[in-house]
Amino acid sequence: MVRKTLIAGNWKMNGLQEDGVALAKGVALEAKKRARKDCEFLVCPPFTLLTSVKKALKGSRVMLGAQDCHYAASGAHTGDVSPVMLKDLGCQYVIVGHSERRTNHYETNELVAKKASAAIEAGLKVIICIGETEAERDAGKTIDVCSAQIMGSVPENATAANTVIAYEPVWAIGTGRTPTANEVEDVHAAIRKVISKKLGRANANKMRILYGGSMKPSNAKELLALPDVDGGLIGGASLKVADFMAIAAACPTLTK
Ligand code: 13P
Repeated sequence: MVRKTLIAGNWKMNGLQEDGVALAKGVALEAKKRARKDCEFLVCPPFTLLTSVKKALKGSRVMLGAQDCHYAASGAHTGDVSPVMLKDLGCQYVIVGHSERRTNHYETNELVAKKASAAIEAGLKVIICIGETEAERDAGKTIDVCSAQIMGSVPENATAANTVIAYEPVWAIGTGRTPTANEVEDVHAAIRKVISKKLGRANANKMRILYGGSMKPSNAKELLALPDVDGGLIGGASLKVADFMAIAAACPTLTK
């Protein structure tokens, strides 16, 4: 019993001040009222909402994270935000290597590893995202692709205490489609083996591996019950308090 369930919301590029604050307050209130005490909650709003969401979450058990960072601590990087700045603002987590960044911003494994390493160095925890495209899945390359992403994107300073992996099949994101439960478990178990190869067995056994990609109240119970699924990274359904909390409530166990 070493891996505590993490229910994480990736708000992506959604939310203006008023609705972002309302969503954060709603999650904080419901987390306090209903949810079982030992699962962890995290919300990752866009940069523009981090300060106001931090205020809205004050005194609650919901943690704050960002969706990306640069690898440098400061300097001439117009438009970027450093991990040191995120830590300074009060973030506990940062997502790196989301497929939307790998695709839209041409982020490579090497760059993701640099960002993750710098974020860990700055005292943040990282959620490193991996996952195959539909063409890769159809070609039977899912495990190979995910293994290569783990080997290339997880930095040397990663440990179970500072790093979470999120398996997000690209074709399942925002589509309403998901792999079968068996397929998800197979990939998660394979990911754990690769982590063991890279970071040793103790880290692999303790490191949380989240599932992401069209997780919603109706499929959360089945997915979260899988032995190697330690929580969810939730996009669309994290934008509604009721759906986000219903996913948390569907979680059959709190630690694995
Ligand atoms: P959806 O839950 O909207 O499919 O998004 C998943 C995701 O990309 C989380 O990072």
